[in-house]
Amino acid sequence: MKQSLWLTLISSAVVAVAATAQTPDASDIAEGLRLYRQKASCQSCHGWAADGRKSDNQMPDGPNLRETKLGRAGLVMTIKCGRLNSSMPAFDKFAYSDGRCYGKTQADLKAYPTRMPDPPSTLQPREIELIADFLIGKVVGKGPMDHARCVEYWGADVEACREFPK
Ligand code: HEC
Repeated sequence: MKQSLWLTLISSAVVAVAATAQTPDASDIAEGLRLYRQKASCQSCHGWAADGRKSDNQMPDGPNLRETKLGRAGLVMTIKCGRLNSSMPAFDKFAYSDGRCYGKTQADLKAYPTRMPDPPSTLQPREIELIADFLIGKVVGKGPMDHARCVEYWGADVEACREFPK
């Protein structure tokens, strides 16, 4: 094959990879949803639909994420660093070890009346990105949960969807 053709092929492959890195595909969103529900257990405070109806009564009240004004960068930051003086945990293992979050360290956190709880599990940066992809793709600004979205979310017309009129 001629060298110029190789170059064309290589550069179009590079463009394709760059494009997939920006637009989350369906499998990234599905992975983000799994992390939200299972490993990170966000739903215990924010609800499975991320609408603030928490799945565990004993947990703090997480706000409705469907109505958040945060963009992708703000979501990633909040998941990594949590919220100072609140019950929103920091999911980055190193959040308060080197000043990467709001320039604070563990010692500074003692000054806040409300201590952030430990996260159900810490997350890798890539996992945090996937959760942000899920939130942007399926949650933020998408309106309230309804029957059709519920069926799509669970992959079937399950018990949880009965409360939403068809
Ligand atoms: C232990 C309960 C708890 C868990 C677990 C939890 N959150 Fe939160 N979250 C909160 C609370 C409480 C707030 C409100 C913080 C405040 O007062 O500003 C919050 C705030 C947020 C915000 C900011 C919303 C806004 O509009 O300002 C985002 C985004 C968020 N949580 C996402 C997540 C995600 C994603 C997960 C899982 C990776 C998660 N949370 C896990 C309790 C929780």
